[in-house]
Amino acid sequence: MDCSCKSSTEARGETLKAEILQLKKDKNAVILAHYYVDGALQDIADYVGDSLALAQKAAAECADADIVVMCGVNFMADTVKVLCPGKKVLVPDNTAGCSLADSCPADDFEAFIKAHPGHTVISYVNTSVDVKALSDVLVTSGNARKIVDSMPADARIIFGPDRNLGSYINSVTGRDMVLWDGACHVHERFSVDKIAELKLQHPDAPVLVHPECKRPVVLMADKVGSTAVLLDYALKSDAREFIVATESGILHKMRQGAPDKTFIPVPPADSTCGCNDCAYMKLNTLEKLRDCLRDEAPEIHVDPELAERALRPIERMLELSAR
Ligand code: 13P
Ligand code: SF4
Repeated sequence: MDCSCKSSTEARGETLKAEILQLKKDKNAVILAHYYVDGALQDIADYVGDSLALAQKAAAECADADIVVMCGVNFMADTVKVLCPGKKVLVPDNTAGCSLADSCPADDFEAFIKAHPGHTVISYVNTSVDVKALSDVLVTSGNARKIVDSMPADARIIFGPDRNLGSYINSVTGRDMVLWDGACHVHERFSVDKIAELKLQHPDAPVLVHPECKRPVVLMADKVGSTAVLLDYALKSDAREFIVATESGILHKMRQGAPDKTFIPVPPADSTCGCNDCAYMKLNTLEKLRDCLRDEAPEIHVDPELAERALRPIERMLELSAR
């Protein structure tokens, strides 16, 4: 990009940011953003977090707002709407789905539950509202271990929809949960080979891995955790370089928090490029955020009866993770 293009892009970004801040003030809105969205959106948000922190913020801190905007994907906005039914919940792009949520259609999951009578149903928050409503308790990658550990030792458990997170939680808790066979297309693209190549070049760099990755990738990790856990580890560690196997949006906060450290993204197995992006998360842009605040659309609606059924397992998750 030549200098004049760069400066006009920067100027456009600054104008959009000023418009967003003004609209946010005028409309008494709160902006939440996940670590996987573009850095410019993270920088303008009131709260940036992992799925757990965003649900906690929605439950606790959005009470005074008239509008909550979720810069993330639809299942996150649905969670906000279920927790805050009286608020107007907006998203910059309502086509921001999730391959993991899509891998668990509610009808099929209901049949799976019926085929396993007497099981407690634990679902990852990365699911549709219908699947949430079928569940006894929800978890995020930040609290899954704690919540599974809180179940009676002899409890028979169904865990959906992420087979990789479920298998990781089975391995650290010693449980034998029945796993739904779903996965996230972004995290499934990480491979042992790419990490091994990077480890040869950076032997002292700890490997940070999200538990949505496949088991052989998880086994290479020095630290396994949610985005917030990996960020915290990277900022506190004495290491100078880190190999990062999760969606590349997390690098923004890592680099901001530790500008003197080097964060090396693991490329997808089928690519030499450094980015493993979630295309859904990357649908969020400053321009769409400005438009959604201006037009108060797209708005998230959840059927109130369904929302009531989905609220119980979300509240149970928040209670159990606060203990
Ligand atoms: P966490 O926010 O729990 O780290 O999960 C990552 C993810 O895939 C969100 O879509
Ligand atoms: Fe869904 Fe994976 Fe994207 Fe997270 S990274 S929103 S789990 S597709």
